[in-house]
Amino acid sequence: MGKVKDFRALFIDQLRDIYSAESQLLKALKKMAEAATLPALKDAFLNHLEETRDHVERLKELFNTFDEKPTGKTCEAMKALIAEGEDIAAEHYSPAVRDAGLIAAAQRVEHYEMAAYGTVRAFALLLRDESTADLLQLTFKEEEQCDKKLTVLARTPINELALQEECV
Ligand SMILES: [Fe+2]
Repeated sequence: MGKVKDFRALFIDQLRDIYSAESQLLKALKKMAEAATLPALKDAFLNHLEETRDHVERLKELFNTFDEKPTGKTCEAMKALIAEGEDIAAEHYSPAVRDAGLIAAAQRVEHYEMAAYGTVRAFALLLRDESTADLLQLTFKEEEQCDKKLTVLARTPINELALQEECV
C-alpha cells in the first residue's frame, strides 16, 4: 500500500478530474456547435467554448500556484457524457429534433460540471483558501448561466420546432 493521501490530495485529484473534463469539452463543444442547426444554439455552444477556454486557464493558474501538475487523470464521466452527445448528433433526426437532443446532452454536461465545481469550491473553503474558492465559484456561475441559457433556448423555440417537425 502507498502513502495515505490527505484531504488536500483529494482536492487536487478532484481538480485534475475537472481539468480533464474541461479539456475534453473544448473539443466536444466545437463539434456540438457544428452539429447544431439553430443559429442561437450554435452561438450558445461557441460562446461556452470561449468560456471553457477561460475555465481551463483558471485551472492551470490554480495548479501553478499549488506547484502541481493538472494532468494525470481522465474524467471518465465526461467522456461518457460526450459520447452520448455524439450519438445524438449521429442519429438521423430532423434538424430541430437534433437541436433538442444536443441541448439535452449539453445540459447533462453543465449539471455535471456544476456538481463538480460546487464540491471543489466547498473543499477550498474547508481548506481556508478563499481566493481559490472565489475563482472556482466564478466558473460555477458561468456553467450555471450556460445551463439557464440552454433552458431558455429549449423552451423557445427549439422544442416547439422539434414537435412541429414531429407532426408533419
Ligand atoms: Fe467549464
